[in-house]
Amino acid sequence: MKRMLSVVGARPNFMKVAPIASELRNSPDIQHFLVHSGQHYDENLSGSFFAELDLPKPDVNLEVGSGSHAVQTAEIMRRLEPVLLDWRPQIVLVVGDVNTTLAAAVTAAKLGIDVAHVEAGLRSFDLTMPEEINRKLTDSISTLLFVTEQSGVNNLKREGVAEEKIFLVGNVMIDCLLRHREAAAGSRILDRLGVRHDGSRCLPYAVLTLHRPSNVEEARTLQGILSAVSSLATDLPVFFPVHPRTRKQIADFGFECYLADPGNSHRGLIPLDPLGYLDFLSLNAQASLVLTDSGGVQEETTILGVPCLTLRENTERPATVEQGTNQVVGVDPDRILASARSVLNNPQQEHRCPPLWDGKAAQRIVQILNGHLQCV
Ligand code: UD1
Ligand code: UDP
Repeated sequence: MKRMLSVVGARPNFMKVAPIASELRNSPDIQHFLVHSGQHYDENLSGSFFAELDLPKPDVNLEVGSGSHAVQTAEIMRRLEPVLLDWRPQIVLVVGDVNTTLAAAVTAAKLGIDVAHVEAGLRSFDLTMPEEINRKLTDSISTLLFVTEQSGVNNLKREGVAEEKIFLVGNVMIDCLLRHREAAAGSRILDRLGVRHDGSRCLPYAVLTLHRPSNVEEARTLQGILSAVSSLATDLPVFFPVHPRTRKQIADFGFECYLADPGNSHRGLIPLDPLGYLDFLSLNAQASLVLTDSGGVQEETTILGVPCLTLRENTERPATVEQGTNQVVGVDPDRILASARSVLNNPQQEHRCPPLWDGKAAQRIVQILNGHLQCV
């Protein structure tokens, strides 16, 4: 029996590991352990996803909590090392680009344990993003690099990664979406928000998510985005599930004036607590427009066929622009407002599904893992 250990820690990790964990249940030769770093710990950023996505309860939670990049990364490494020494997995699987990803990859690699990186090769070419540093370092020490889109393969080859380590397998985040789409249709979120719905795909509201430090930690940038979206919200309500980092910054900068009174949930820029996966999927699936700086949401809107404006200067996911419904519009308030109104006035956009975003990425990954583990 071979031992594999997957490490999760932050919200976007859970939906990436869930389909792989589910697929591994059909692999009796692999014993699968799950470690939670505790990078995210609130119920609505972590706990709720385990039940909704049918993720097994972690075998151990390292409970590192929040901290500076160095403190959080170091603390995960310090607490993970004895777990790896104890369980001695043949491979450690990490996903995405958060501090947990890098910390777990470094800890495993230094113990001589193979690392499999899911979502390898994505590059924004912007080293001011902490995630770009995490991606590049993780890829450089990984043994198996599972890639979601062709640009990732090209980036890895350009960086000199050996071709036999690179596997274009598709997108596990989309596996998760496709597996839960039907369950999300049963969500009561629209009723709770007072949105009248008649079964049509496109309802007259928009959704906003924001959490990138470059957008929320600098007062002028955050103010520009909030003022643009609150102007848009005079045309149609904009629901805004607020990440805790962003909530703190809005309070610190005194920007609550841009938000609607949460008691009046029918118009304006309406702040909500972070939503559960099924509620958020249901809300996005029926929106006229999504505005976001999230990586995962750019991919999900591509598959949902919902227009997405990415409030950043770049994207590490070019397939969502070239083939999907995404437009990278930056953070200039006039451009955000003009782009949003243009999309709302011209709702029919052509889009395609990027190759292999077909719900079978986890299956391909587990097949490759099985082959690899037979040889180690
Ligand atoms: C992290 C990831 C980011 C990812 C995002 C997903 C890194 C460097 N960043 O950013 O790539 O897109 O998760 O949501 O790994 N907090 C809470 N409750 C929690 C967790 C955090 O209130 O359960 C607050 C704390 O004040 C904390 C802040 O949010 O300091 C930021 O959390 P952190 O995990 O450091 O970064 P995120 O912005 O969540
Ligand atoms: N998400 C969610 N509830 C929310 C906001 C996002 O369930 O209120 C989900 C979203 O559907 C996607 C993932 O969280 O699956 C994206 O995570 P996030 O935006 O935090 O991180 P990123 O993808 O930018 O790293």
